[in-house]
Amino acid sequence: MGEGAGAAGVDVIIRGARRSDALALYEIMSKPKVIWGTTVMPCTSELTAEKALGEENRHWFIATRARDGHVLGYLYLDWGHGRWRRIASLVMAIHDDAAGQGVGRMLLDKAIHVGFQYLDLQRIELEVYVDNPAAIHLYEKVGFVHEGTKRRNAIRDGVHVDGHMMAILKPLDG
Ligand SMILES: CC(C)(COP(=O)(O)OP(=O)(O)OC[C@H]1O[C@@H](n2cnc3c(N)ncnc32)[C@H](O)[C@@H]1OP(=O)(O)O)[C@@H](O)C(=O)NCCC(=O)NCCS
Repeated sequence: MGEGAGAAGVDVIIRGARRSDALALYEIMSKPKVIWGTTVMPCTSELTAEKALGEENRHWFIATRARDGHVLGYLYLDWGHGRWRRIASLVMAIHDDAAGQGVGRMLLDKAIHVGFQYLDLQRIELEVYVDNPAAIHLYEKVGFVHEGTKRRNAIRDGVHVDGHMMAILKPLDG
């Protein structure tokens, strides 16, 4: 469990996932900015969130408000099989009402640490829409590097939007 204060001073605890998080995850996945910034479907279901919680080879990080346990955001790492075992993809979202308060940064710091120091990952990669500067800025700040751009990567509100591929490698001496 990790604790700390986000940039705006909100006290945050980062913990693993619980079965009972499905409803809170569904609520975050239903927020307009989250649908805009991710590949979550509009009108997703609590069942989808529940299934996502049960995926194998996936490690969850849940950001909660320290004073009442309210779920503020989530991040998960999915690692591969065979020769991709040490490569993971990262997905994250912060509740619309909690964005811009440093919660995303805390989740990323925790996931990168656990990913490299406990899951034994060598590489963490992600895809981000090219028109999501807040996310790109945050990823660059923690060390992700732009590796290329996928054209027409995913459809959003009828438009096929390009996506940047970004990745961070475990430091060779880390
Ligand atoms: C994008 C997201 C993950 C960022 O998390 P967050 O908790 O809001 O981010 P933080 O508060 O930790 O940090 C945001 C950083 O981006 C900056 N930022 C905010 N809006 C920005 C903008 N329009 N352009 C550039 N930087 C911006 C902030 O100033 C801050 O950087 P700083 O610390 O240098 O000032 C979160 O807002 C979110 O989940 N959004 C909706 C879904 C989404 O887009 N997910 C990403 C999928 S790839």
